[in-house]
Amino acid sequence: MSIFESKNQLMKRIAVFTSGGDAPGMNAGVRAVVRSASRHGLHVYGIYRGYQGMIEGDIKRLEKEDVKNIIHRGGTILKTARSMDFMTQEGRQQAYDSLIAHDIEGVIAIGGNGTFTGADIFYKEHKIPFVGMPGTIDNDLFGTDYTIGFDTAINTAINAIDKIRDTADSHNRLFFIEVMGRHSGYIGLYTGIASGASGILIPEKENDTQHLIQTLKKGIKRKKLFSLVVVAEGDESGGAIQIANRIKEEFPLFETKVTIIGHLQRGGSPTGNDRILASRLGHAAVEALLDGKKNIMVGLVNNEIKQTPFKKCITQEKIPSKGLLDLAEILAMG
Ligand code: F6P
Repeated sequence: MSIFESKNQLMKRIAVFTSGGDAPGMNAGVRAVVRSASRHGLHVYGIYRGYQGMIEGDIKRLEKEDVKNIIHRGGTILKTARSMDFMTQEGRQQAYDSLIAHDIEGVIAIGGNGTFTGADIFYKEHKIPFVGMPGTIDNDLFGTDYTIGFDTAINTAINAIDKIRDTADSHNRLFFIEVMGRHSGYIGLYTGIASGASGILIPEKENDTQHLIQTLKKGIKRKKLFSLVVVAEGDESGGAIQIANRIKEEFPLFETKVTIIGHLQRGGSPTGNDRILASRLGHAAVEALLDGKKNIMVGLVNNEIKQTPFKKCITQEKIPSKGLLDLAEILAMG
């Protein structure tokens, strides 16, 4: 079926919201939802501040004009929140009452693991269909090769590390750079490979400290003047400060420096890849709702749109491929 064909649908009103940590590209996703839905004559409502706004009835009509001039903006025009109230049955009942008050028949949720866990429970209790779009910089969702925001986040981190490399190159220094990823090493691994790090510490590879010390010492023997080590915030070492303190006496001739990139990685204009991903998934999410799909996330697997049940997205762990982990190891030997 061509993407231009109209569907013979019964649904007339849908809502969209963003939830959990914001991610660059969420706005491009909201825009794609509103524009794709308009083609089918659907009315779209924006729910502000995630599940908390759903509970409090913070819901407004989103017209096509409301989403103009946002494709390039980071953050989310719908705001976001992590709602404790939605974890209670009373909170979810209030959220249901708000949706019914606006005659909303289907919802598109842009977020991560916590967002889809909430949607899964909500559907069991109230039977309003939800379709999810993966929006998190962490790239830790099963059912999609990439999440919206990941590409921008790694590019921000890579740009920062390129600058650190210039100053590291001018002194004898060991730099430990911490990147985000609460439970996941995707940002660390991709950033580490792309910025030519000598070491990458991520939660998916445990007890890697001794190995790191050996690798850095080998580098020094080869007259390497500086080294960059990328540390995921979720690494079992506890982060860049902890690991730097633990191993600095092994390298008395080097000054040890720590940089935590932090929330810089969550902001900024989304990359082209994130805008395209969000646009494709926003359109696919509307189509899925109109096709009567519920409790699924739309994702991109091998460049094809795939639908995966929420249950699977939230219970199946997504871990970086062994091939990529091995590659990181080989290239760090430099
Ligand atoms: O889940 C995305 C993420 O950016 C994690 O990488 C990070 O640990 C966390 O959110 C930070 O959350 P907050 O902005 O609430 O401190």
